[in-house]
Amino acid sequence: MTDIKAYASRRAALLAQMQSGIAILPTAPERVRNRDSVYLYRYDSYFYYLCGFQEPEAVLVLIAGDQPQSLLFCREKNLERETWEGFRYGPEAARETCGVDAAYPIGQLDEKLPGLMANQPALYYAPGMDADWDARIMRWLNQVRAQSRAGISAPQHIHDIRTALDEMRLFKDARELEIMRRAAGISAKAHERAMRATRPGRMEYEIEAELLYEFRRHGAQFPAYWPIVAGGANACVLHYSANSARLDDGALLLIDAGCELDGYASDITRSYPVNGKFSGAQKDVYELVLAAQAAALAATRPGAAWDTPHEAAVRVLAQGMIDFGLCQGSLEQVLETGDYKRHYMHRTGHWLGLDVHDTGEYKIDGKWRPLAAGMTLTVEPGCYIRAAEGVPDAYWNIGVRIEDDVLVTADGCEVITAATPKSVAAIEALVGKD
Ligand code: GLY
Ligand code: MN
Ligand code: MN
Repeated sequence: MTDIKAYASRRAALLAQMQSGIAILPTAPERVRNRDSVYLYRYDSYFYYLCGFQEPEAVLVLIAGDQPQSLLFCREKNLERETWEGFRYGPEAARETCGVDAAYPIGQLDEKLPGLMANQPALYYAPGMDADWDARIMRWLNQVRAQSRAGISAPQHIHDIRTALDEMRLFKDARELEIMRRAAGISAKAHERAMRATRPGRMEYEIEAELLYEFRRHGAQFPAYWPIVAGGANACVLHYSANSARLDDGALLLIDAGCELDGYASDITRSYPVNGKFSGAQKDVYELVLAAQAAALAATRPGAAWDTPHEAAVRVLAQGMIDFGLCQGSLEQVLETGDYKRHYMHRTGHWLGLDVHDTGEYKIDGKWRPLAAGMTLTVEPGCYIRAAEGVPDAYWNIGVRIEDDVLVTADGCEVITAATPKSVAAIEALVGKD
């Protein structure tokens, strides 16, 4: 919680957009993993974006109007619980730390909220995000409605708070970019460590451990998603998560791994030979995907439609698939029929930020939106070739994805994960060299 001004200015921007009404933003619940043991806690991204508070059992309430107000409900100090579970701010310190106007014990939520909602023209929250919160907020609303004969009015309009917040989160400020660059740097180091540790006979989970070790030793709080460490045929399973197989001599290894630092995700994929030397067919596919990524990166600039980098990557990939005998027909035919999707079945990127697949619309009024400076996204083409009849067997079980994290700048883009080794020469110089 280093910059309370940044959070205050985000709240001010949201309050200004609301103009009037009340917004209710609970953080994420704690979840039991097994009996007395909970999953490692991660706050809700919207809540955190607006106040930076990291404890569970907290709710941010914003009241727009002539005198905008930010209120935080959080756990009270409790020396006994703190002895078992660790430090809690308590409302008084939380108010100062988050820079909100007032803070109250979370136990007062049911008592205070109907009063705060009374006579507000509009209610903003995130309907459908959590059934328990939906029910609780509707209960408060009904309590206010029940007071109509006393002349108290309930909010007439209900809005999804995410509409405004998703768009705000899409454009990263300088502080967010500074964290994202640091996260990218840690993940780059982790990939380099994984490359050095890779050799035939190692298990996928041993390489996973190297990634997690590097994330954590640099202070990253979590992996942004569970690492995919997929050797050989497993690289063609897009969401492979077992990470339990032995790495074979002659196979390729695909690693999709990124850390989360101070709430912000990084998301990097590299693919390389387990024995440190690309075979002819592996190199063909790798350099094809690399060329597709270069085409997509060249197309990532302000004003370009969201889909342009994807289209650029697909053209390169489809032509390569024809050249390798993986698709038949002309380039235009393969693009039109979508035959290339047998080997490239996902899209070339997504927004990146507090969430790995971050918020923000991809289309506006039915059209792919233009990219603009300050947006962050991934560029991640791939080519996945399963063993199948009609597929030249030199290409069987080659799965390649190359994924980098990118900031759209005033005149193009900056690859913030550029420190992650990527050329054939850089990779061959590193794999197995620990
Ligand atoms: N690691 C998730 C993704 O690449 O989208
Ligand atoms: Mn990704
Ligand atoms: Mn990824």
